[in-house]
Amino acid sequence: MDFFDRQWSTYRRVVDHDLMEHQALSTATTAAIEGWLAARPAGAPGARMVDLGCGDLGLLAPVLRHLPLGSYLGLDLSAPVLPRAAAALGPVSYPCQWREQDLLAWAEAEPEPEPVDLLHSAFALHHLNDENKSKFLELCRRHLAPGGLLLWADVFREPGEARAAYVARYVDRIRSGWNPLEPEQQQQVIDHLSQFDDPADREAIQRSAEDCGWRWHWLWQGAHHAEALAMLTPIR
Ligand SMILES: C[S@@+](CC[C@H](N)C(=O)[O-])C[C@H]1O[C@@H](n2cnc3c(N)ncnc32)[C@H](O)[C@@H]1O
Repeated sequence: MDFFDRQWSTYRRVVDHDLMEHQALSTATTAAIEGWLAARPAGAPGARMVDLGCGDLGLLAPVLRHLPLGSYLGLDLSAPVLPRAAAALGPVSYPCQWREQDLLAWAEAEPEPEPVDLLHSAFALHHLNDENKSKFLELCRRHLAPGGLLLWADVFREPGEARAAYVARYVDRIRSGWNPLEPEQQQQVIDHLSQFDDPADREAIQRSAEDCGWRWHWLWQGAHHAEALAMLTPIR
């Protein structure tokens, strides 16, 4: 197994054992998308969806398969996940595209002529530093159609919590409760999050989003004060 496969199989085990509450998150995400689709005007064209950091679609594929979308673009920095995502989704009634790209580069690029109706990102934006998260929020609005929606699922810090304190409590959580992972898999996750994760302070990022014209609504909060789902809609 190469480095990528080892990392990815560890993540799959985290998801399969629901260690990051993906099941509850997936239920909340499904309800949000279905509610938003149901509220669209009758006769509106099929919604165009973009999924930033789509991964292998292990959890979202069954949801996507039943949605009456107009199109779906799965975008990820890591090329090897894209064929896995396509295989997990299988044939659907709408056109799909798969793209290897950095999500911030996507936000920075000129919007395509057809704007996005539904923007989704799960557990990817916390890899950006705070400055880039705010930049992302400002820039991605330009890609959204009127009436569009951003669903942001991620890990967040508690208000005022330092990154080091967040990392320390997440490491405690892994060491004391993530028994389905082998010790070396636990260490892999700990090394990754200690090095790369930079979750937003939940209050600070909400203020920053509101400052650049988003209305922020928390849809779901996990039991561990880390995983959460926010719905953002443009104010103007
Ligand atoms: C933890 S996985 C989550 C995958 C999937 N969204 C889910 O919820 O199961 C994070 C994914 O985001 C991708 N990713 C991380 N940083 C990214 C970036 N800057 N641009 C695009 N994708 C990124 C990773 O390659 C990985 O596939």
